[in-house]
Parts: sequence; C-alpha cells; structure tokens
Amino acid sequence: MIKTTIGNISQQENQEVVIEGWLYNKRSSGKIQFLQLRDGTGFIQGVAVKNEVSSEVFNLCKELTQESAIRVFGIVRKDDRAPSGYELTITNLELVSLAMKYPISLKEHGIEFLMDHRHLWLRSKRQHAILKVRAAIGRYAREFLDNRGFTHIDSPIITSSAPEDSGSLFEVDYFGEKAYLAQTGQLYAEAAAMAFGSVYTFGPTFRAEKSKTRRHLNEFWMLEPEVCYLDHEGSLKLQEDLIEYIVQNVIKSCTLELKTLGRDIKELEIIKAPFPRITYDKAVEMLKENGMEIEWGEDFGAPHEIYLSEQFNGLPVFVTHYPKDCKAFYMEPDPDRPDTVKCADLLYPGFGEIIGGSERIHDLDILLQRIQEENLPMEVYDWYADLRKYGTVPHSGFGLGLERMTICITGVDHIREAIPFARTLNRITP
Ligand code: 4AD
Ligand code: MG
Repeated sequence: MIKTTIGNISQQENQEVVIEGWLYNKRSSGKIQFLQLRDGTGFIQGVAVKNEVSSEVFNLCKELTQESAIRVFGIVRKDDRAPSGYELTITNLELVSLAMKYPISLKEHGIEFLMDHRHLWLRSKRQHAILKVRAAIGRYAREFLDNRGFTHIDSPIITSSAPEDSGSLFEVDYFGEKAYLAQTGQLYAEAAAMAFGSVYTFGPTFRAEKSKTRRHLNEFWMLEPEVCYLDHEGSLKLQEDLIEYIVQNVIKSCTLELKTLGRDIKELEIIKAPFPRITYDKAVEMLKENGMEIEWGEDFGAPHEIYLSEQFNGLPVFVTHYPKDCKAFYMEPDPDRPDTVKCADLLYPGFGEIIGGSERIHDLDILLQRIQEENLPMEVYDWYADLRKYGTVPHSGFGLGLERMTICITGVDHIREAIPFARTLNRITP
C-alpha cells in the first residue's frame, strides 16, 4: 500500500494506494457510488462498486457528506475521459471526520455570499486552480530573477514615506508617531541595489484607494526589481523577458488548472518578447483617432488602457514617456523632452496596466528639485537623497502586480479572486 497524492497519481498506475483528503462531491447510481475526491494537490473520481467493497464501506460512502475528511484506499486506473487522466477503484475507506451541512453547494451562489465564505470557497475547483496559478507566477518570477543573479531583499512594511500618491495611505500609530503601511518597496530596493547591484523585493503593498474596480485591491503583492547601471531601454528588455518567462512556464506547469479555468492557451502562447513600444504622445493620438476623450497631460483611465492594449495583435504594449506631472517624483526626466519622464507602463491585452516602472533620477540636484516641486517632506527623504551623494549611478526598476498578472493568465474577471483573502473597500473579513 503506497500513500500518495492526487498530483502524483500518474506514477502509481495499477497499484493500490491510499489518499488522504476530502469528499468534494458525490453521485450514485444504485450499485455504484461515484466519489469526487480532493486532497489539495488535485481532484480525482473514486468509484465504489457494491459487490466489490464491504457493506460497511459501501454504506459509509452513501452517508458521506460534502467535505467530510476521508482516507481512501483504491487501485489507480488509467481513464482517458477523466480530466486528470486517472480514476480510483475504491477498495476501502476510512472516515476521519464527518462534515456538517456544508454552506457552499456546487450550484451558483451570489458573490457576496461566496466572499463571506472565502475561507471555505478556497476549496472549490476553480478557486483552487486560480491560486495554484498565482503561486506558480510568484515561483517563476523569483526563479527568473534568481537565475540572473538578483538578490531577494525584504523591504519594511511600516514606513515613514509615501512615495506613490499621498492620497492613498493607510496610517498607523507608531508609538505616538505617524507611520504608513508601505505603498511600495522601491525606495528601499534602490538603497539595496547600490549594495547588491541587482535586487528585488516581493511583498505585500497597501493603497487606501477608495476604488471599487475589478483591478484594484487595498492590499496586493508586488514584485519590484531594481538594477544599477540599467537604463530605461534595458529595463524594458528585462520586463518583457520576465513576462515571457512567467507566462510560458505557467502554460507548461499549470496545464490542468488552465483547462479547469477554460483558458484559451493560444492567447498565452503568443506572449513572447519583444513587445511593441509606443510613446504617450502616440497613445494620446491613437485614443483621439478612436474618438475617446483625452487631452495631453491627463493620465489614462481603464477604458483608455484597454483600448490601447488591444491594438497590438494580442501582445502586451509598453507605453513610454508619460508627462512628468502624471507620474511619481523619482522618475528621470527625458533630456530631449523634459516635460516627460523615462518611464513605461506595460499594458496587457484586454486588461491594462500590469507593470509600472522607470529610470530613476540619479542626480542629487534634480532629485532635490523634484521633491521640492512636489511639496514632499524633505526630512523623510534625507536617506533616499543620500544614495545620490555617495557613488550615484543610473538605475532603473519596475513593479509587477502579482494579482493583476494572475488575472491576465487565468482570465478571471475580478481581482478579488486572484488573492487568497482580498482586502477591498468593504471587506476585511475573513
Ligand atoms: O504603478 P505602481 O503604483 O508603481 C509603483 O508602486 C512603483 N514604485 C513600482 C516600481 O517602480 N518599483 O504599481 C506597480 C504595479 C501596477 O502596475 C499594478 O500591477 C500593481 O502594482 N498595482 C496594483 N494591483 C492591485 N491593486 C492596486 N490597487 C494596485 N496598484 C498598483
Ligand atoms: Mg502605475
């Protein structure tokens, strides 16, 4: 008898195994009980035939409730009709615990009900698939950077600065002083890059945005690479290579999950570098030609980004050189067009921004001037300015939103399903 998992079942064809898991669903046709089993690694059908198991086991199968914990013994059979390719002929079954009436049935429920039961909803096939893909994205992102010699650096969650937009801050009381939950790890990544060359942070970031869109969370995970001696162009190259690596590896390792989600793999297979690049100027022109309302100097909204993202044959597009006034203070002005900065947003087809990044200002005087222009508290950025005093070099970096990447790969339509426990405007429980 071999203890195994559903994920590894292909290695045990025709052998007797035991699987420890739960009853996902059940149906019967008199003399046969079909048990849908799950064990965290996958889903498989177990078949109990009346005359082939003891009457105790057969009766137990009949009495099992949805989500009861069970230990199932059986023989692994190849079955091409099964999504996993295998079925289990049940020989024995042990009850670990009988579940009370489970609130989530496999029929339709309203979204608020499901979010209220998120702690249980995670067990469903679709949610399981989405979060498996999310985990794979994080794994391949780190693998890509680790393979290129990046050092993973953790940045603080409690900070004194608000680099992105002071309107979207979560304030915390830090022993009587005002502090904020980090909006980004970037400034710390810049300091670390000067020590380690190429670094990345990967952690939770917080925005108190009161927006209720399908692409905003108040707590989300961001991967932020930062590289010394890397210019804007080099950063775009790094970004497209990273995205290609993530997408192409997820296709290979999450075949079953993407199938469960009904994802069109062809749309993912074409996500290969290089990605097209257009300037903000050109983007505004394209939007105007399409009759959309936008003036030079304004930031894009979701409809603008979605329109632009769909004009490049299914490839993501970099929009570069936004007006300085739309973007954060630390971005390097373009010497040829000082009203714009050397930045880019990467727009994913049909979705919009998944990455924001830029070359950073490396000249002390220009940085101090920008801090002043934006009326930022100089004392908070003293240490950040120090980086420009002691061996400053050109450097660039960017931030990739993990949940947004998850939406783009899985095709789910709302970001609340792309994170285990979403923090949105009206939700902090479970
Ligand atoms: O464009 P953002 O605000 O850039 C930064 O924070 C930079 N400091 C990053 C850097 O250069 N190191 O955010 C970067 C990415 C966005 O492109 C998006 O994918 C994600 O973070 N993001 C969000 N994801 C979910 N909910 C939100 N409210 C998000 N805000 C940003
Ligand atoms: Mg942005």
